Amino acid sequence: MKVLVVGSGGRCHAIVEALSKSPQVEKIFSAPGNAGIAALAECVAIKETEIDRLADFAAEQGVGLTVVGPEVALEAGIADLFAERGLRIFGPKRNAARIETSKEFAKELMAKYNIPTAAFRTFTDFDAAMEYVKAGKLPIVLKYDGLAAGKGVVIAETLTEAEEALKDMLLDAKFGEGKVVIEECLVGPEFSLMCFVNGESVYPMPVAQDHKRAYDGDKGPNTGGMGAYTELPFITDEDLEYAMQKIMLPTAKALAAEGAPFCGVLYGGLMKTPDGIKVIEFNARFGDPETEVVLPRIKSDICQVFCDVADGKATQIEWHDFATLGIVLASKGYPGSYDKGYVIEGVESVDGSVYHMGTARKDGKYITAGGRVMIVVCSAPTLAEAQQKAKAEVEKIKCDNLFHRTDIGNKAFK
Ligand code: AMP
Ligand code: GLY
Repeated sequence: MKVLVVGSGGRCHAIVEALSKSPQVEKIFSAPGNAGIAALAECVAIKETEIDRLADFAAEQGVGLTVVGPEVALEAGIADLFAERGLRIFGPKRNAARIETSKEFAKELMAKYNIPTAAFRTFTDFDAAMEYVKAGKLPIVLKYDGLAAGKGVVIAETLTEAEEALKDMLLDAKFGEGKVVIEECLVGPEFSLMCFVNGESVYPMPVAQDHKRAYDGDKGPNTGGMGAYTELPFITDEDLEYAMQKIMLPTAKALAAEGAPFCGVLYGGLMKTPDGIKVIEFNARFGDPETEVVLPRIKSDICQVFCDVADGKATQIEWHDFATLGIVLASKGYPGSYDKGYVIEGVESVDGSVYHMGTARKDGKYITAGGRVMIVVCSAPTLAEAQQKAKAEVEKIKCDNLFHRTDIGNKAFK
């Protein structure tokens, strides 16, 4: 079978790698792909949002399965278009992807179906929003409703901070016309539970934990994710059962009941609070960088899983029980402005997987070409060993303009 993977980051690289191990995959295309993915797939110069061109390409090449990485393609309606054209696709249609693309839709669905989440209200008017904030408790969480690439969430510790954020979101239209969801601030460890979902069938993957802040000790600005690991000692089997029974299964059912059945990966961004596990957010796709630490653990043929789920058939998924840990190398300055074009050396000497996030190839060498540049992932029988290994291996990558966190996974040992 020929397979097309839509996307260009580390998540896409990990999906391509997992597919490359399938005996039924004869050729992989990646659109647009990146310099690392190019070692395993033919990169095609079509952007994630050019969905008509992607559909034409899949039809012309006889692609048997298309797997979608990023939410921008889902929001552009790639799954709707492929379905209309009779092309098999792994990814939700636009109405189901609203679980990620509209925070208001997600929150209302959870309220209607009693899925545990932070108390919330939605506002479009600045004054009304300010009044609500003043009447409530601090800190308070303000979320811009719409895709803001992880930057649309502010946890305001003071009224001044809340006022500034609300001005940005509602008065200055910094992100475009919009609404703001104001939420109670929850506390507890966060974790990501990704599930393969088709309609009401839900298959969990191993849980992972992302590290969103730029610097050690969870300091600095929010990023796309600076590292991740599996397994999580603080999430018990009972926690997982609770998350499946109270959150993931009911959400899949709720979407189906609302006429928006989900097909693809439903990502639960969850928090283990003193009042039980609650939803922080849903995504309608594989998480990044969680995918880079979760997919190396799949034992089953992932192509078969994708096809079964896309076709609405029951599937079976087995996982290796080792631990994995990944450390992201990012350009100095990220998530603010940064320079590109620095030569990266030592990638070949890493004993582990290196997934490319933002690289290019120049004069036979890899160079930096994005904010997050690579992730080094190591596996071992225990998390402590995986951490030790990843910390050692990441040092083998030499580049003048990269930095990384040195505490990925520490929260597991507290
Ligand atoms: P989101 O984009 O919704 O994932 O939010 C980004 C980050 O903000 C999350 O990973 C949490 O760390 C934090 N966050 C979001 N909502 C809440 C909440 N209600 N309570 C506490 N922290 C939150
Ligand atoms: N790791 C968070 C996300 O993929 O949105």
